Amino acid sequence: MKVASYTRYGGPETIRLSDAPIPLPRAGEVLIRVRAAPVTAGDARLRSGKVPRGLGLLLRLVIGLSRPRVAPGWTFAGEVAGLGDGVTSFAIGQRVFGLMGFKGGAHAEYLVIRADGMVLPMPETLSFEQGAAFFFGGLTAAHFLIDRARLAAGEHLLVVGATGSVGGAALQIGRHLGARVSGSASPGNHPLARSLGADQVTDYRKGPPPGPFDVILDVMGSLGWQAARPLLAPAGRLALVTANLGEMLGSAVRPRREGRMVLTGTNPDTLAAMQRLVALHHAGSYTPILGPVLPFADLAKAHAIADTFHKPGNLVVVM
Ligand SMILES: NC(=O)c1ccc[n+]([C@@H]2O[C@H](COP(=O)([O-])OP(=O)(O)OC[C@H]3O[C@@H](n4cnc5c(N)ncnc54)[C@H](OP(=O)(O)O)[C@@H]3O)[C@@H](O)[C@H]2O)c1
Repeated sequence: MKVASYTRYGGPETIRLSDAPIPLPRAGEVLIRVRAAPVTAGDARLRSGKVPRGLGLLLRLVIGLSRPRVAPGWTFAGEVAGLGDGVTSFAIGQRVFGLMGFKGGAHAEYLVIRADGMVLPMPETLSFEQGAAFFFGGLTAAHFLIDRARLAAGEHLLVVGATGSVGGAALQIGRHLGARVSGSASPGNHPLARSLGADQVTDYRKGPPPGPFDVILDVMGSLGWQAARPLLAPAGRLALVTANLGEMLGSAVRPRREGRMVLTGTNPDTLAAMQRLVALHHAGSYTPILGPVLPFADLAKAHAIADTFHKPGNLVVVM
């Protein structure tokens, strides 16, 4: 099978596709024939080592000083191709999707995962490409809007960076929660933002729209506390999906500011959170947006697009 690896921190050319034996599922494991996997902003950051200010050393201490010692690819959609001893919860040929998490390994034609791990049957209403795109932005948006900001019906949400993987999910989940939803995006993406449920769309390069907003989801962290502060309603919450070390420490030490809250952190990937997102899909409230779809052989090209942080929706490679 073909499998991707990182050779060092750097540009898309540091991604290598090589041949490897198809892994064998051990007891309790499932072998998956991967059909599609996203190339996310997270994949691009792990490969390049380019993370928000102050977090670079921490990243290298966790995943490798000289090169990323994790396998590329966090999430996948595919078919069950083999069952380890004792696995009865899945059947050969079944369509599934799931998360490999930090250790990665989804950018490969086959992978093994524990049957009781982060893998679920994939709804018939999703293509493999949509299944691959399902979790990255959706889990993040749901975590920040539902668990952290506790966005409530009737509140006003602003999503800054509204049409990428996280923002596109946030618009839909905001609507599902009964919020009034505004978004900011570059002008070419305004029709997409409207189609995802934004009532009002503005160009973030021309400044933020007038508030007040109960919740601001600042996807790229480009607004920040100083600019967001005058736009927040009393008791408003600013969720910085992308935050630097100073902002993370600041929000930990002083989350509450003049009655308003600053929220940072990372999205904990859990089976329960995955199941909640699947339930949102079944309720008709969330389907990931698909942007470019490329063959697996073009993985480096896909990384170059992900590096821009301007892709519409989710970028997927198909195996
Ligand atoms: N905290 C966590 O757990 C967590 C989890 C997932 C992702 N993230 C982070 O979240 C960020 C976004 O991820 P993503 O997957 O949504 O990326 P993406 O799909 O590349 O989308 C990026 C979005 O940001 C917009 N944007 C780019 N530059 C901007 C700026 N200067 N001001 C405002 N908006 C801007 C883009 O809009 P246009 O295309 O319209 O220009 C696009 O909508 C990344 O930094 C990623 O590392 C954090």
